[in-house]
Amino acid sequence: METPQFGLSTLSRLGLGCEQLGGTDWGKFDIQQAMQTVRHASDCGINVFDTADVYGLGSSEELLSRSLGQNRKRAFIISKCGIRWEAAKHGRARTFRDASAAYVTQAVESSLRRLRLETISAYLVHWPDPKTPIAETIEALESCRQAGKIRFIGVSNFSANQLQDASTAARLDFAEVRYNLLEREAETRLFPLCRQLGIAVAVYGPLAQGLLSGKYDSDSRFGSDDRRHRLPQFQPQALERNLKTVRRLQMVGRRIGYSPAQVAISWILAHPAVSCVIAGAKSPQQLMENAGALKGKLQTRDRAYLNGEIENL
Ligand SMILES: NC(=O)c1ccc[n+]([C@@H]2O[C@H](COP(=O)([O-])OP(=O)(O)OC[C@H]3O[C@@H](n4cnc5c(N)ncnc54)[C@H](OP(=O)(O)O)[C@@H]3O)[C@@H](O)[C@H]2O)c1
Repeated sequence: METPQFGLSTLSRLGLGCEQLGGTDWGKFDIQQAMQTVRHASDCGINVFDTADVYGLGSSEELLSRSLGQNRKRAFIISKCGIRWEAAKHGRARTFRDASAAYVTQAVESSLRRLRLETISAYLVHWPDPKTPIAETIEALESCRQAGKIRFIGVSNFSANQLQDASTAARLDFAEVRYNLLEREAETRLFPLCRQLGIAVAVYGPLAQGLLSGKYDSDSRFGSDDRRHRLPQFQPQALERNLKTVRRLQMVGRRIGYSPAQVAISWILAHPAVSCVIAGAKSPQQLMENAGALKGKLQTRDRAYLNGEIENL
């Protein structure tokens, strides 16, 4: 497994997304299997685990820590704050953005407690908060770093302009960015800026929430407890368009002996700005399939075909 250096740590190029561990809004879910997936990842040398305080309203952080046991101290855990929640008796919790210094400082303490750690490897602002000046948020994170509670700091879902602003307040280590074959906006400004500023990029949503695995088609239906019933890429018109990309993944996969998910992840890993791909997985089988992408079999012609630059492989 190729392992780029990251400060004192060595990151695996594939990380495990642990939002699913929170157990909400992802449809059918087996908690034991999800915990087993975390342990399996750790046993296989995957050391990057991505979570957030709001995932499962704290339960993703707690279960990640429990699943890893003592290995949690050696793992590179990325967590995030900046979305507050009010639990509801019925239905989904109410969430709202708050990246104020007071809330960030409190959120770091709560994450440390749930993760049962003295220091979190990386802590990010989950989403920009329009009500809080970016400098206030970043300075609060920087104070936590100075106090030894966080090792690396960063942002998630920031535009290039927001990232530029944030980077004037303190040295940023990380940007978490949504990026996949269907969503490539980051290529234009964000990725070049990250490279220029020396900020590591962790990509999330590499499979467009499972769509690029090739197992969904226009007959697929999702329940109201599964976010995919409302996500734009699964709506009928967009889905028809997106399935053409899936067919290209399948074509390339057949040529090189990869599954569509492996091709989709490989395509991202080939981008020079990307340090790590965070893929969600609900089972050890999915995790192992995704890890197969690390062999990196894609050739220039495969990438050109996936990019739509040529019509035939
Ligand atoms: N920073 C942020 O704002 C942000 C936002 C979202 C997510 N994230 C992080 O990124 C992680 C990954 O993103 P994501 O979970 O949204 O999307 P994703 O990685 O694109 O898709 C994950 C889903 O795809 C399916 N899947 C995974 N591997 C598969 C395989 N080999 N074959 C078939 N299906 C497979 C699974 O769902 P099914 O089996 O149900 O299809 C899985 O839950 C999250 O867990 C979270 O840690 C961060």
